[in-house]
Parts: sequence; structure tokens; C-alpha cells
Amino acid sequence: MSARFTRREFLAVSLVPCLAALVGCASRGQSAADSQSTAGAAASSSSAEQSSSGSASTQPAAGGKALVLYFSYTGHLDTMSHWLADETGGSLVRVTAVDAYPDDYDATVERAKTEQDNGTRPQINVDLTPEQLKEYDTVFFGFPVWWYDLPMPMVTFLENNDLSGKTVIPFFSHEGSSNGANALPNLEKYAKGATVRSQDALSVHGKDVDGAENTVRSWAKDLGYSK
Ligand SMILES: Cc1cc2nc3c(=O)[nH]c(=O)nc-3n(C[C@H](O)[C@H](O)[C@H](O)COP(=O)(O)O)c2cc1C
Repeated sequence: MSARFTRREFLAVSLVPCLAALVGCASRGQSAADSQSTAGAAASSSSAEQSSSGSASTQPAAGGKALVLYFSYTGHLDTMSHWLADETGGSLVRVTAVDAYPDDYDATVERAKTEQDNGTRPQINVDLTPEQLKEYDTVFFGFPVWWYDLPMPMVTFLENNDLSGKTVIPFFSHEGSSNGANALPNLEKYAKGATVRSQDALSVHGKDVDGAENTVRSWAKDLGYSK
């Protein structure tokens, strides 16, 4: 069982190297996404990436205007994405690294930091053809905040796939970086030519994910994506 990445733990291990990122985070202020965070549910005991019970395919089914594309390590985004795909009727695609992140939580935290510091683009198991992508006007883009930013496999995806002309709607989970820190500006940067609706992003604290089904469904409904 992996340890949880609590906010206190996260700050303890990252305060010095990430001071600049923290300042950047604070300067962005609270986003609209923040107000949609849920409260009250118990912490999830979901498993790590490789052993998740998620049933997402690595390729989308044909048709459907929304693609629910996500990365998840401990399972929060997997849970949120399944609700979202059900609510929207969208296709579910999970991005995973070819070289899977280890079950050991601390080792994953370290690797993620090294990847971010080095600008690594980990190879991923999702490769969508332009024809497949053409099926979708909207991409719901789900990720856990990793080191105040996007997990690098999602950067790989954005660099390998052309989302220009599409609407990209972010949703994410975190343990304190409730406005996504650098993740949303970087998503806007990497999703060239897409309309990224950062102001409509959904942010859910990790401990609240288990109780967030209505929040996720209402959010999609309010955006006009209920099937
Ligand atoms: C490598 C790593 C880095 C993380 N960095 C942050 C961070 O910068 N800010 C934050 O609030 N949470 C951070 N977290 C916590 C996750 O964002 C949070 O637990 C999220 O709910 C996990 O989603 P998942 O279960 O889909 O992987 C980090 C977790 C990991 C594993």
C-alpha cells in the first residue's frame, strides 16, 4: 500500500527546491475551479497506477464528441474520469507510461521530480491517430498535480497529439495545489491552437474524491456535456 501524499508531507519534501513554483502558484490566486472543490469524503484507498481496477482503453471507441483523457497514479483521476465518461457519454482513454511508475510512492515522487527537472518526455502507451482525434470536438483533460505541474506523461501526450481547433477542459486532483499551480498555464502552452477552458477547470482535493460523484456530474452538466 502506498503512502499518501499529504499536503504537509509534500511541503516538507519540496519546500526548498520548489519555492519558486510556490510563489508562482500563489501569484495565480484561487481559480474558479477551486470553488467547485468538494468536501467531506474519506480519503481514498485506491491503488497505484499499474494495479488500478480502471477499465479504460488505451484507444477511444469511434464516435462521440467528447474524449475523456486522463492520467492517474493512485486512482483518483481514474475514479473521476469514469464518472465523467458516464455522464457525458464520452470515450475514456487512460494515458500510462510505457515504463510504469513504481508501486513505491516515494520512488514515484522522486522519479517525477527528476523527470520534471530534466524535461523528460516519458514514452506513453497512447497514440491517437489524427483520424481518431477528429471524432472529438472536446477533450476533458484529467491529471493529478505533480510537483506543481502536469505529470510529464501528459506533456508527452500534448506534444505527440495535435489538439488544435478543439476545446480542452481540464479537471484535476491535488493535495493542496488547489488552483493547479503551473499545470493550467502549461496546458495552455502545450495544447497549441486549442481553446483551453482553464477558468472552468474542476479541482478536487484527493481526500474528497470518493464523495465527489455529484460534483463531477454536475460540473459536466453545467458545462453542457450531459448526454
Ligand atoms: C509525484 C507526485 C507529485 C505530487 N505533487 C503534488 C503537488 O505539487 N501539489 C499537490 O497538491 N499534490 C501533489 N501530489 C498529490 C496528487 O496530486 C494527489 O494525491 C492526487 O489526488 C492524486 O491523483 P491520482 O490518484 O489520480 O494519482 C503529488 C503526488 C505525486 C505522486
